[in-house]
Amino acid sequence: RTGARVERLPLARFTTLGVGGESEMWFVSDHAQLAEAMEQPYRILGGGSNLVIADEGVPERVIRLSGPLAERDLEPDPHLSSEGEIVTGWVGGGVPLPGLIRQLQKLGLSNLEGTVGIPAQVGGAVWMNAGTRYGEMFDGLHTIEIVTPQETRQVTPADLQWGYRNSGIPRNHVVSRVRLRLRRSTPEAVLEKMDFADNARKGQPKMKTPGCAFKNPGGVSAGQLIDEAGLKGTRVGNALIAPEHANFIVNLGGATAADVHALLDVIRARVPVPMELEYELWP
Ligand code: FAD
Ligand code: EPU
Repeated sequence: RTGARVERLPLARFTTLGVGGESEMWFVSDHAQLAEAMEQPYRILGGGSNLVIADEGVPERVIRLSGPLAERDLEPDPHLSSEGEIVTGWVGGGVPLPGLIRQLQKLGLSNLEGTVGIPAQVGGAVWMNAGTRYGEMFDGLHTIEIVTPQETRQVTPADLQWGYRNSGIPRNHVVSRVRLRLRRSTPEAVLEKMDFADNARKGQPKMKTPGCAFKNPGGVSAGQLIDEAGLKGTRVGNALIAPEHANFIVNLGGATAADVHALLDVIRARVPVPMELEYELWP
């Protein structure tokens, strides 16, 4: 045994929606522990900010990066950095993105400030190329380390077919750590851009939610389409289509995964444009 901490815990505690039953969690803090956890069927959990997990939990191991895999080394690599641009040391996939973005702002390092307000972990945010109209994760990546049960490899963004909300990295390939590619700026300039991106969130609900339910189809706002279908305020059980922004489903307290699924079905039935789900449903 490699010493990974294994514990059955309710996943609701690890999701921003606050839904999800008990499952076997593997807290892994190095590559050996990660490899052991991957010997049996597994899922990888990040910040839990894009997940709707069944009330029964999931049968697979749920891996969570912790310890050194949730730490960051932002020292510029002297061989890869220049006067205008730096490449950092390794940033663990388990690092919470909001704290990282705040720290980069204080250091006056630019490229990732457009992702302000996304409550993800670095690994999860890279895996789905989380972003906003003001920037996305792939704006600031140099190297991505990907672990599968077969191998560990390091790739660059140019090696991947990435795009809107998509890194091109297959599901269950674990983003264990990354090196960031950042432009030297000033704390003031980065803060100004961050505030601008943050402002676009003013209309988003403050309650428990897994973020936007659907990806924007062809540049149109999914929220606007759901709104135009008259669905704001629709409630099933304790889940509600947010009155503030129709692409957000919120947990009023005690919502179940089934409540959320029922609302997703209502939306699919009533919106005339086909939309791709952004959340992931477990199992
Ligand atoms: P999780 O929700 O834990 O997992 C989601 C998927 O990522 C799963 O398939 C999981 O297996 C995979 N994953 C997690 N960690 C790893 C890893 N280390 N390696 C490989 N795969 C991994 N998203 C946006 O893009 N833009 C926004 O503006 C935005 N705003 C949001 C606002 C709120 C209030 C909330 C709650 C969510 C918002 N989201 C937004 C959605 C969400 O934050 C993103 O989808 C984010 O990328 C999810 O990352 P996570 O670490 O929470 O992943
Ligand atoms: N709108 C409505 N009704 C609504 C919601 C929106 O009419 O209920 C209209 C707005 O008035 C605006 C337009 O739709 O004219 C766009 O809305 P908004 O600015 O909120 O942007 P969005 O396209 O709905 C996207 C991302 C968000 C991201 C924001 C801010 C997607 C699916 N959504 O929302 O990302 O935070 O821009 O940059 O790409 C997420 O992915 O989980 C997410 C929250």
